[in-house]
Amino acid sequence: MYVNKTAFRYNSDLPKVTFLPANETFEFEPGKLPYKNHGKPESLLDVAMNFGFHLEHACGGSCACTTCHVVVKDGVDNLSPMDDDEFDRVEQASDFQLNSRLGCQAIVKGDVTVHIPAWNRNYVSEGH
Ligand code: FES
Repeated sequence: MYVNKTAFRYNSDLPKVTFLPANETFEFEPGKLPYKNHGKPESLLDVAMNFGFHLEHACGGSCACTTCHVVVKDGVDNLSPMDDDEFDRVEQASDFQLNSRLGCQAIVKGDVTVHIPAWNRNYVSEGH
């Protein structure tokens, strides 16, 4: 596993995740990221947690809130496709946009840049 900040020289073969507006970039070796038990393995949330970057996740990564909402700015095709459960949840985000994703559900497959909205609605659904 590689733990790097933006100024570090990156390995071009490894997926890089950049979180805006903090402009923090992390890269990892697929298959070797220790799972942090929140969200899907190698999801944006899992990457963030591995590198100590704070991404809200009120429901613990179970697709039951929108606090991990991010907007993909670059590399949308380098994330896993959105399934129905994720779409049903993320469209409830207060500032839902065309490239919105849930950080706990979107699995990183390549370089991606996401923006964390300034305000995420935090309403953990019950009964899911
Ligand atoms: S952390 Fe709740 S939906 Fe992602």
